[in-house]
Amino acid sequence: MTGELSPIDKAKFVAAKRAVDFVEDGMRVGLGTGSTAAWMVRCLGEQVRDGGMKIKGVPTSTRTADLARQVGIEVISLDEAKWLDVTIDGADEYDMNLNLIKGGGGALLQEKIVATASDMMVVIADISKQVETLGAFPLPVEVIPFGWQTTKALIEETLVSLDVLGNNVTLRLNGDVPFVTDEGNYILDLHLNRIGNARQFSLVINQIPGVVENGLFIDICDAVVIGYGDGRVEVRDINAGTVEEDRIDFVESDNLFTDLTD
Ligand code: 5RP
Repeated sequence: MTGELSPIDKAKFVAAKRAVDFVEDGMRVGLGTGSTAAWMVRCLGEQVRDGGMKIKGVPTSTRTADLARQVGIEVISLDEAKWLDVTIDGADEYDMNLNLIKGGGGALLQEKIVATASDMMVVIADISKQVETLGAFPLPVEVIPFGWQTTKALIEETLVSLDVLGNNVTLRLNGDVPFVTDEGNYILDLHLNRIGNARQFSLVINQIPGVVENGLFIDICDAVVIGYGDGRVEVRDINAGTVEEDRIDFVESDNLFTDLTD
């Protein structure tokens, strides 16, 4: 129930609820991964079940696919959809140009493919995700398991020549074994503190053999919906150059506020 939500969860919820306004009947929608995106999937599910909205959803992880089906959204693959009207997803950091760090939940590869194949990407976040310069959140880099230690060493060597403040690279673990992505890969978390030139960084890192993709989303996001714990939301559209403020009332709904596992 809403009374049990922390301010941060309320902020995530209102951002998700407002972002659903970007979705119209008949759209093909990219469904992000993470706790904020899970609220969005639940809000969309409510529109489908109670509002009669017809959409097709392309999930960015098996977790999101399971939740989408559970709340009544028709799930299709990206190859079936071919192109999407809008993708709504969370982020670990966003800057003033709406460049992002993503992948805290380990789904960055599918997330980047899906967002790139969309007319519009909308990020949903609470205000704590806003940064002046990207890099305080460890940058996730997806690597293939074969020779991952060599890939890690090559990344560490490359970091020396890049404009960053830290150089510690760690293998993401799930307990005491490597975390494995939906694509069967590993994640290296790069503790950089500050990424001076994110565009250049992304290009250089992706050149290293063994690297599949990194969590920097440059020029992919079109709008961010920022939620606050008191129900306020702010919608910044980078293309239109607009900032809109709104307020979402919490309406208790058993369908939305129970059994949230993500
Ligand atoms: C998953 C992601 C998430 O969108 C990101 O980690 C934000 O998650 P949350 O909404 O739980 O804070 O990139 O790979």
